[in-house]
Amino acid sequence: MTAPYALGLATQPEHPESQPLPLQGALPGWLRGTLVRNGPGRFEVGDDTYNHWFDGLALLHAFTITESGVSYRSRFLRSSAYNEAETEDEITQSAFATDPCRSLFERVMTVFRPQLTDNANVSIHRLAGDWVALTETPLPVRFDPYTLNTLGVQRYDDTLSGPLTTAHPHRLSDGTLFSYVVDFSKPTSTYRLYRLDAATNTRRELGNHAVRRPSYMHSFAMTERYLALVAFPLVVDPLDVLLTGRPFIENFEWQPERGTKIHVFERDTGRRVTTVPTDPMFAFHHINAFEEDNTICIDLAAYPDAKIVDRMYLDALRSGWTDVEMARPERIRVDLREHTATQERLSDVGIEVPRIHYARCNTQSYRYAYGTGNRTPGHFTDELVKVDVTTGAAQRWHADSCFPGEPVFVSDPAGTAEDDGVVLSVVLDASAERSFLLVLDATSFEEIARAPAPQAIPLNFHGQFLDADNPTRSMHR
Ligand SMILES: [Fe+2]
Repeated sequence: MTAPYALGLATQPEHPESQPLPLQGALPGWLRGTLVRNGPGRFEVGDDTYNHWFDGLALLHAFTITESGVSYRSRFLRSSAYNEAETEDEITQSAFATDPCRSLFERVMTVFRPQLTDNANVSIHRLAGDWVALTETPLPVRFDPYTLNTLGVQRYDDTLSGPLTTAHPHRLSDGTLFSYVVDFSKPTSTYRLYRLDAATNTRRELGNHAVRRPSYMHSFAMTERYLALVAFPLVVDPLDVLLTGRPFIENFEWQPERGTKIHVFERDTGRRVTTVPTDPMFAFHHINAFEEDNTICIDLAAYPDAKIVDRMYLDALRSGWTDVEMARPERIRVDLREHTATQERLSDVGIEVPRIHYARCNTQSYRYAYGTGNRTPGHFTDELVKVDVTTGAAQRWHADSCFPGEPVFVSDPAGTAEDDGVVLSVVLDASAERSFLLVLDATSFEEIARAPAPQAIPLNFHGQFLDADNPTRSMHR
């Protein structure tokens, strides 16, 4: 069986020249800027193929909205992973779930001089005054968000060690970033939380926590006073990462008997305040977090287990799996006085790649989360949802044979309500074999405009809207 969205998981050429797109409907006059998106766009190199959706070579996309309409361009990120693929005609760098065949000698050398991939195909962020593409190695790749030209790896000016990080740092309105690295070592590995001040490239370690079996975490939580790592029981013996020769993620094991551990740190000092156990679960994405009296509320798009990681292998994904439950919005409440945690499902509606009105609601009590959802089993990402996390109610958008990606909320600068604005999503129309930029009114969740591209655009992960007047206004993780 071939999934109806399989076209969105196929290699596509780049379109570096700006293409004007026809516009159906009308855009709000205040919506001027560029939606930049990042995701995999090439899945084969010579005779080699990437195994997993997360491994494909980064293809950047830009939808630019001006008074004269919408235009589109795309370019592969010229990372060393991409450049070596072009020159060697084979996969040369280890990825999330793909490892090039290496000789024993090469493998042993890799232990001493690990080569981390710079195939930054996950997200877009602002770092040290530049726009960068991020993945889970600490090798941000700078690029021009308008031409999509690659400018090179951003090197940090520090000695913070750890080969694994998150592509979802948190950001304050002044540009300060918070994030973490995982430093693999025996007998203990270390989670290192850091702060990166705006327009600098020196990560300052705030605090750390040693664990024997580090977890695979894709994102984390931040409130006004705290940072929290939610360590799911998908864990690894660090020596295995170095020695087994298996692709990175295949060294991790689901050990639900460990439960989920929530490590809470003071944001200012990095001091660990508590580690609290809760039920086993897995998530890629946090939605938001905030404080309520002596409680931290941590909202995430949670799965009951980590099967979703296996279902994202390209063979499984392209065949249309039906046996994995969608992530649901869950709230973990951590009581800082009692050192206990409770869990509550916020809605029965499935949600992935969640977004909020970040500039207004990050670290604050909030009402709305936007995400992709699933209506038909096996159709993966066939709707957009807007969930009211205070009631569990949801508004939904879908269309026949359409597969939308992460919805990016852009606030109306003159708006007052949390959902005054629009939601932008790149949608694959599988029947038409082409994609379009979809614009929804964020309040009604109804379509107000679309701009069809002449070709299919690969399904992609995360993006940012760069406001024409104030590029970082909508910045999200
Ligand atoms: Fe992500």
